[in-house]
Amino acid sequence: MGQRTLPRIIQGGMGVGVSSWQLAREVSRAGHLGVVSGTALDLTVARRLQDGDPGGHVRRALAAFPDPAMAARILDRYFLPAGRVEGTPYRPIPRLGVRPNPAVDELTVVANFVEVWLAREGHDGLVGINYLEKIQLATPVAALGAMLAGVDVVVMGAGVPRQIPALLTDLAAGRPGGVDVDVEGAEQPYRVQVDPQALLGEHLPALRRPQFLAIVSATVLAAYLAREERTRPDGFVVEGHCAGGHNAPPRGKMVIEDGEPVYGTRDEVDLTKIAALGLPFWLAGGYGSEQGLSDALAAGASGIQVGSLFALAAESGLRADLKQRAIHDLATEDLPVRTDAGASPTGFPFKVARLPGTLAEPAVYEARSRLCDLGYLRTPYLTGDGHVGYRCPAEPADHHVRKGGDAGATAGRVCLCNALTAAIGLGQVRPNGEIEPPLVTLGSDVSGVRAMAERHPDGWSAADALEFLCPADLRSSATT
Ligand SMILES: Cc1cc2nc3c(=O)[nH]c(=O)nc-3n(C[C@H](O)[C@H](O)[C@H](O)COP(=O)(O)O)c2cc1C
Repeated sequence: MGQRTLPRIIQGGMGVGVSSWQLAREVSRAGHLGVVSGTALDLTVARRLQDGDPGGHVRRALAAFPDPAMAARILDRYFLPAGRVEGTPYRPIPRLGVRPNPAVDELTVVANFVEVWLAREGHDGLVGINYLEKIQLATPVAALGAMLAGVDVVVMGAGVPRQIPALLTDLAAGRPGGVDVDVEGAEQPYRVQVDPQALLGEHLPALRRPQFLAIVSATVLAAYLAREERTRPDGFVVEGHCAGGHNAPPRGKMVIEDGEPVYGTRDEVDLTKIAALGLPFWLAGGYGSEQGLSDALAAGASGIQVGSLFALAAESGLRADLKQRAIHDLATEDLPVRTDAGASPTGFPFKVARLPGTLAEPAVYEARSRLCDLGYLRTPYLTGDGHVGYRCPAEPADHHVRKGGDAGATAGRVCLCNALTAAIGLGQVRPNGEIEPPLVTLGSDVSGVRAMAERHPDGWSAADALEFLCPADLRSSATT
């Protein structure tokens, strides 16, 4: 089967678990591109199973996994039919590393399969998955899991995703596929890969290569990726710095005022140069309004990628109380969103919505004891004795320094792994009975979301959001 034409509206990938399979499925069913978040799916699927798998969705998907014995091992390990006893912590899952670990591979491949399978269930619309370049260690095996479920599109940003086109091509051919991972202090990168034959043996079906969209914020990056076949994506999402989630840092030396990076005209992308690369592109960051799609089409884009408007839709994974509060604040007063230069362990600026009870409040931030038990954003580094260690600037400062990290880099960091997992209602319970506090990210251009909140003060569905974004006269597909 040839590549299918991608639609005009992409519902952006939103981690952890905000762009859930429920959200992506609704968007895809309506003929647009629904994208599930591929971030930390091993964790979220394991936790949903420990919460008793309400609705039986994970188990339904597991029953369709090509290797029944592998699916059974995951079920055996994590499923609690009656859910967790209230107040008990979720059990830990194995952490990512550069060394091969079958337990990590099995949970990751199965979890990525589950999320995509559920998003694709019951319709023939297109479904995508979003990964973060920064979480390189998970990418090969995660992509294999998504491909086993027939994912149509892989979307990736937060870095330079030059290795992904070749990875997808290799996996689709049933060959080992991998990425070179940077290890700080090491002269050579470490290869992290998955061999589909070795992992699945006789259960390995024929795989189809998904299309690949690279998220870029600078023309030079798009031009670099487009130059050679092995790095060339099938299209771009061009994301401005008002987008929710992580943002590219300003070009040149980062100037910070009041904790926020200052962006200037150098950060504006020349869309005529992007168009000249000859690949389709979608515009993201503040395009989620009634005007957004027609502006993008007028600029030569194939369509738009929208996040915030869908993050607050009924089907998103975001905790209902956080969603309601955000919609209320937007409709009635204000919901300030900061571009925090120092919150994310990745070092990229990160958008933080100032919602009460979240880590955006200094008192909530100060009250949390620092710890690092999930580790998705850890950086591998070479230890003095030649081993690979892992550190994260959001871990306890003394641990970070002991591992050779910079003490100055720890101030103000937020453990996004725990905070974003808490924001979808899967926060860890600590020994003192407290549940990890959440953090919410949204885009800083909330004009479209505010208009929607005024129109639907009690909330909206993904279908309402699509209706708002895409009037009937613009509804036909993009041309790729
Ligand atoms: C809650 C939330 C989480 C996000 N998480 C991710 C992510 O994990 N990966 C990613 O590539 N983009 C992420 N984004 C960016 C969106 O995919 C999208 O590009 C962006 O939100 C578009 O800007 P808008 O919010 O103004 O519509 C996130 C955005 C939001 C609002």
